Amino acid sequence: MEVLNYDIIIVGTGLAGLRAAVEICRKNSRVKVALISKVQIMRAHSVCAEGGTAAVLHPEDGDSFELHAWDTIKGADFLADQDVVMHFVKICPEEMYLLDHWGIPWSRKEDGRINQRPFGGHTYPRATFAEDKTGFFEMQTLYDRLQMYENWDRFEEVFVTKLFIEDGKFHGLFAYDMLNGKFLVLKGKTVILATGGGGRIYAFTTFSHAVTGDGLALAYREGVPLKNMEFMQFHPTGLVPSGILMTEACRGEGGQLRNNKGERFMDRYAPEKMELAPRDIIARAEMTEILEGRGFKGPDGLDYVHLDLTHLGREKILERLPLIREVTMSYIGLDPIEKPIPVRPAQHYTMGGIDVDIDGRSKVPNLFAAGEVACNTLHGANRLGTNSTAECIVWGRITGEKALEFVENEKFEPEIPEGKIKDEEKRIVEFMQKDGKESIYQLRKELRQTMDRYVGVFRDEEGLKTAVNKIREIKQRFKNIKVHDKGMYYNTDLTTALELENMIDVAEVVAVGALERKESRGAHARRDYTKRDDKNYLKHTVAEYTPEGPRISYRDVKITIWKPVERKY
Ligand code: FUM
Repeated sequence: MEVLNYDIIIVGTGLAGLRAAVEICRKNSRVKVALISKVQIMRAHSVCAEGGTAAVLHPEDGDSFELHAWDTIKGADFLADQDVVMHFVKICPEEMYLLDHWGIPWSRKEDGRINQRPFGGHTYPRATFAEDKTGFFEMQTLYDRLQMYENWDRFEEVFVTKLFIEDGKFHGLFAYDMLNGKFLVLKGKTVILATGGGGRIYAFTTFSHAVTGDGLALAYREGVPLKNMEFMQFHPTGLVPSGILMTEACRGEGGQLRNNKGERFMDRYAPEKMELAPRDIIARAEMTEILEGRGFKGPDGLDYVHLDLTHLGREKILERLPLIREVTMSYIGLDPIEKPIPVRPAQHYTMGGIDVDIDGRSKVPNLFAAGEVACNTLHGANRLGTNSTAECIVWGRITGEKALEFVENEKFEPEIPEGKIKDEEKRIVEFMQKDGKESIYQLRKELRQTMDRYVGVFRDEEGLKTAVNKIREIKQRFKNIKVHDKGMYYNTDLTTALELENMIDVAEVVAVGALERKESRGAHARRDYTKRDDKNYLKHTVAEYTPEGPRISYRDVKITIWKPVERKY
């Protein structure tokens, strides 16, 4: 078995992972960095980010850190830690200018300044953008930058199956190298997990098929708690029937939502902000319209409303939203210059994640997490659009710095007991040999249907109990799966099974957390507890692994500036 030694291992190569790698390499050319991804580096899901990245770039026009922080905290339904938010908003502009210097083609205003567009819940247009392909250009810029350095190795199409945590410290990981058909062990003095959220535990989602909550489950099973997992974001405009993201920038540029009567229904739900209210509010509004019969009939129960861009005109759509047009034309043969787009709420973002502090550090002092896999409590109960790519970049940099500090300052030599390596190898080989009766594809389908149906935009006790029971049934049936492919090379049957194992654990934490939170706050809307309950639930949910299921406890929110008030738009 090949055992390789590194100073810093980064798992995940989206915006957070790449930004962390650049930060480490530009500060220290002697540390050895490993960059691991189960897909090719540039296929990480961040490449699909469309609308923009939040930052206060134009205080001369009236924007400010306080305004960005307030919007974020109000958007979060007051569940964000306010010290974290203030830290974040101050770093965002630095990062946007850094990307600018590194060559990103930001869209510009007539006078040459970087352009910004409006986004939901932001009182100022602060979404920094590059057409409607912002994530792609950000990834490309970081990836290009990384080519300047030589102290990193790439491990692409390498699937991590286990983190070795001994005596409270991370020592390394076990992985399946799909391309070369072998197992690997990487020892590391620190690790940064940047593996993204758990979007694919749902069927109707804007997320890539690779987003299966692997980093969440890997950390959780090793005793690192997850936090606030019940807060799942549903983006109001997932294209029907695929779920592909129709960026909020469509509405930022003036797009309107209409029901089957042609009404701009948002005036009933958020009369001031209309289509630029936060996502939780618009997703509920759309579902209410659909459930009350004012939607359009869609395939497989995917009833929808209309996202109308036709009044924006050809020129604006081609200049600002070219990807949206390309996608609707190729996927459903619809030209948004001429016809409205069928959309409905789609799972979009995991607000919760690995429990980390303001530096991205977990309770394991050399295990960091950045981006969507992490929960540093920036987003609270509902994230504002464009704060996620910003979060990835900001905490990519921070965790890069902190991981480097750890390596430079601590005398620590990782050691993985031989027996632990052998145990994991045996577990994976046994996985490949599984010859039971259950199909992993059928179980995955049932899991996703359960999440869509019972842990969606609206929830209640009965549905959530049904979901928890069903997930636990799937967990039992998973013990009896069949893995057809027995080969070592590119065994996607094996990786699908490993992903499913991760998804089941993540789904269980989401559903149990949702069942236990008996209030409505942000994206967690209970039909049986319709009000926010600050007395009992102005708290973060912490979920710890036990073999019987998550153990839930609560932790206070850091309220340093603004006391919670009623949230109106
Ligand atoms: O709609 C969008 O472009 C998504 C942005 C985000 O989730 O931040």
